[in-house]
Amino acid sequence: MRVSASRRQVLTALAALPLAMSVPFGSGSTQSGPAAPPAAPRRAYFGTAVRPDQIFGDPKLRDALIRDCTCLTPEVHLKWSAIEWDRGRPWFANVDAIIAFAREHRMEVRGHTLLWEQTTPGWAREAIETDQDWGVIDAHFANLLPRYRDSIGEWDVVNEPIDTEQGDDGLRRNVFQRAFGPNYIVRALESARALAPEARLMINDYSLEYDNPVDEARRAAMLGLVERLKRAGAPLDGVGLQAHLDLGKGRLPARRLEAFFGELAGMGVDIVITELDVREADRGLPLATRDARVAEAAREYLDLALAQPAVTGIVTWGLSDRYSWLQEQAPRTKAALAARPLDGAALNRGLPYCADFGPKPLHAAVMGAMAAAA
Ligand code: G3I
Repeated sequence: MRVSASRRQVLTALAALPLAMSVPFGSGSTQSGPAAPPAAPRRAYFGTAVRPDQIFGDPKLRDALIRDCTCLTPEVHLKWSAIEWDRGRPWFANVDAIIAFAREHRMEVRGHTLLWEQTTPGWAREAIETDQDWGVIDAHFANLLPRYRDSIGEWDVVNEPIDTEQGDDGLRRNVFQRAFGPNYIVRALESARALAPEARLMINDYSLEYDNPVDEARRAAMLGLVERLKRAGAPLDGVGLQAHLDLGKGRLPARRLEAFFGELAGMGVDIVITELDVREADRGLPLATRDARVAEAAREYLDLALAQPAVTGIVTWGLSDRYSWLQEQAPRTKAALAARPLDGAALNRGLPYCADFGPKPLHAAVMGAMAAAA
């Protein structure tokens, strides 16, 4: 990941801001602009995924972040391939810029993610695969964990370790598993703990929501994995549930989800909803109906999750439909994003704000669920 020269200068200047101050999760923004509604009481922190070019290029996004969030997750720039595309030449400016912004507005930052096969640079895959060299992973962790010790309190140490279809015993047969065996997760948590004694260390995964054989098997695999990690004495503090909801997958199975959240909490781990958004099934419906369906699904999910005191945070994967990974790069979507006024109906409407930053029913649903839980 690289930025232009002028952007780079801005980011370097931002990165030079002091990094020594840290605030607890959920402590709230100090911003008190006239447009900010009174802060609803919250038990858990609320955050969203961000990219620096969006924060610093879009005042509406910036204001919404300041108004709503007590936590930010770098959507892309903490991933190994963004930090160290070229071996030995780490590039921190983008993350430092997000941290400086978060600090200025008294927000925490979630660390996403240390190990994820999809975003492991080619040189690292090769070294791991051919030499089974854990030193490569240690060096990567040593680049990040001490540097951000005072500014990132929570890390997804391993992202997406579960695969019940092609995996071994429910574990994804990724480059780490192939090189180091299934114990790589314990080892990663221990390596992270050695460098970040105070941080909350997590694993994070998807497709754990619906009533179908795959999601059901994945929930069982997640519970089994957490149990094994705990039994092995691994320093696991929490589990991230991505919660990419999908209206095409039917209703949420309330009783199964209740049981899943309850069992996880019973194992003594924190739970964070890490990447909440909603994929729509039918964009032909009237806007009000579409937005109501999206909000209803999220509210249902959050009410079930937040019934567990173990849920310590809710993070949406973007704040506005303008910046959602769910806008597939189809010509119609591209045209909709470029049009003035912007054609919000052509987009997937699965985030709290519409593309022009009007709050949608989903915004009220998320804030309402959090206020109710508080
Ligand atoms: O910025 C470059 C641009 O310069 C270049 O022209 C373009 C060409 O492909 O790539 C751009 O970078 C892309 C980046 O997003 C920013 O748009 C990367 O290729 C692309 O791989 C990256 O995708 C991100 C993906 O994770 C991989 O890092 C998505 O934005 C991000 O939403 C997605 O997030 C994941 C979570 O980490 C884990 N759970 C699933 C979730 C959705 O896939």
